[in-house]
Amino acid sequence: MRTQVAIIGAGPSGLLLGQLLHKAGIDAVIIERQSPEYVLGRIRAGVLEQVATDLLDEAGVGQRMHAEGLVHTGFDMLFNGERHRIDLEKLTGGKKVMVYGQTEVTRDLMDARQAAGLPTVYDAANVQVYDFETLSPRVTYEKDGQSHTLACDFIAGCDGFHGVCRASAPRSAIKEFEKVYPFGWLGLLSDTPPVHHELIYVNHPRGFALCSQRSATRSRYYLQVPLTDKIEQWSDEAFWQELKLRLDPEAAGKLETGPSIEKSIAPLRSFVTEPLRFGRMFLAGDAGHIVPPTGAKGLNLAATDVKYLMDAFVEFYQEQSEAGIDGYSERCLKRIWRAERFSWWFTSIMHTFDSEGAINGKLQQAELDYLMHSEAGLKTIAENYVGLPLDFGA
Ligand code: APR
Ligand code: PHB
Repeated sequence: MRTQVAIIGAGPSGLLLGQLLHKAGIDAVIIERQSPEYVLGRIRAGVLEQVATDLLDEAGVGQRMHAEGLVHTGFDMLFNGERHRIDLEKLTGGKKVMVYGQTEVTRDLMDARQAAGLPTVYDAANVQVYDFETLSPRVTYEKDGQSHTLACDFIAGCDGFHGVCRASAPRSAIKEFEKVYPFGWLGLLSDTPPVHHELIYVNHPRGFALCSQRSATRSRYYLQVPLTDKIEQWSDEAFWQELKLRLDPEAAGKLETGPSIEKSIAPLRSFVTEPLRFGRMFLAGDAGHIVPPTGAKGLNLAATDVKYLMDAFVEFYQEQSEAGIDGYSERCLKRIWRAERFSWWFTSIMHTFDSEGAINGKLQQAELDYLMHSEAGLKTIAENYVGLPLDFGA
């Protein structure tokens, strides 16, 4: 089998790239090691920047998002027992975000790919990438006990943090920057109305909490928990009790509880790989970088990597220019480091860090208090939260 671009991974990055390439008339095959059901079972963040919603529109998959997604013009920050609204729209000259689950984005992309009859190999075992330092890269995999080879011009590594592409890059050519945080997020999804019509980010002495949502009837909540906690330790009842303790009296009073649909613990990590290009193999999305979820930047960064990569392929095939592929890594990394910085900083002011002592909490309160009373401080939060324009650093 032969294609122009072999895409490894059918998460949001791989699927979005596949859709954009299809629109541009460039052939691609997606190879995914899991089943479609498994991919759709993963619950992840749900806040899209304008740049990401524009890309989903460009890919022709924005219809359900516009119908069912929730446009938010602000969010609350709660600390020292008081809530403060970050008016995104006012502080950024009219920008907003879209609350729409990553699972739904993935479903829309999968449906569009299927409707267009585009090739995706699910349940591919032992996926390997070869010869990406040459002009004729290859991907091999096994499916139903048979070995297959896919010859291609380029490999797009959209295979997430644990994928094969980054792991196959020569160690001497790669630099990795990593920070692992000493806590995780315990997330719970439930069919209960959200406690508030916007998100609430909570700094509390017992730990961070987040009240998010998927719709008017479905809520997503998170609690900062020690990394040593196991999911079995957290009954639904224990989760709701702890969440109430971290909320202000008004929100705690309004909180509607119910059985969880999903509950899981995720570690928090900042991670960047440099470069993102190895000959004719490119990393995009979680394969190249991870942000802690506090700033909701993961999917948004993945989407912009994909846009830059698709621009590079279009330049290559339509204009016979390698400028785009040569500049891909640098173009992405500028944006990635900006988002990494914001996500790290927002994480650091909103969570409790036990090893830092009581002074850390006091300094956080002072910083939050300063930010809430400074137009510049509020703008710093708002303009980072709504995201950078696409042509940043171009
Ligand atoms: N071969 C084929 N597929 C693989 C392999 C492999 N060796 N390793 C991993 N995959 C698949 C995974 O099963 C997964 O479906 O690659 C896909 C990667 O998807 P994601 O992890 O969702 O990564 P990405 O598409 O870049 O999405 C980024 O996900 O984690 C969030 O915050 C992140 O929202 C962001 C988004
Ligand atoms: C979510 O809804 O899952 C969510 C929202 C905002 C975040 C992280 C996660 O910052």
